[in-house]
Amino acid sequence: MIRFEHVVKRFGDNVVLDGLDFAVQPGEFVTLIGPSGSGKTTILRLLMTLEQVSEGRIYVGGDCLSHMTRRGREVPADEKYQRRIRKRIGMVFQQFNLFPNMRVRQNITEGPIRSLGLPRAEAEDRADKLLDMVGIADKADAHPAQLSGGQQQRVAIARALAMQPDVLLLDEVTSA
Ligand SMILES: Nc1ncnc2c1ncn2[C@@H]1O[C@H](COP(=O)(O)OP(=O)(O)OP(=O)(O)O)[C@@H](O)[C@H]1O
Ligand SMILES: [Mg+2]
Repeated sequence: MIRFEHVVKRFGDNVVLDGLDFAVQPGEFVTLIGPSGSGKTTILRLLMTLEQVSEGRIYVGGDCLSHMTRRGREVPADEKYQRRIRKRIGMVFQQFNLFPNMRVRQNITEGPIRSLGLPRAEAEDRADKLLDMVGIADKADAHPAQLSGGQQQRVAIARALAMQPDVLLLDEVTSA
């Protein structure tokens, strides 16, 4: 499902990942543990193509994130190709990143409606079921700023699950 091949990531002189190799099988749960600043979030951001590798390759479901094949030749991946891969990946960010101007329910329906083309009624039904599952059905009409940290985090989890991704990336998901 996920494969890192000798991935190097540098920020200037700071080598954050130095030849990282690992693979995750379908159905497998993997936890990354390390001190603050050791590169855990960077690994997830690379998978979301929010950052590019300095060296090496990352594959999701067998597709390379940085390169694609066009007329039998390997070329740098374009935005459309990366977006198609990214659709299979859900992420709950360390800072949650909820849309502050949208109510809780809309935070969850926005992706399924816009990106998956789900009808609004179906997306809202899915959102309400997920909100119930994470225990905050009563907050559907609240704005993110009106929620506690842990409640915001649960909205972020529901939002990621609403996309029914093949891969779910959870950054410090039990922090709040
Ligand atoms: N955009 C960036 N520009 C420059 N340096 C960065 C950038 N993003 C991360 N870093 C650096 O990369 C290193 C790893 O950061 P990262 O956020 O991956 O750590 P982490 O393991 O998630 O830490 P924490 O447990 O505190 O969340 C840190 O030294 C950080 O300063
Ligand atoms: Mg982090």
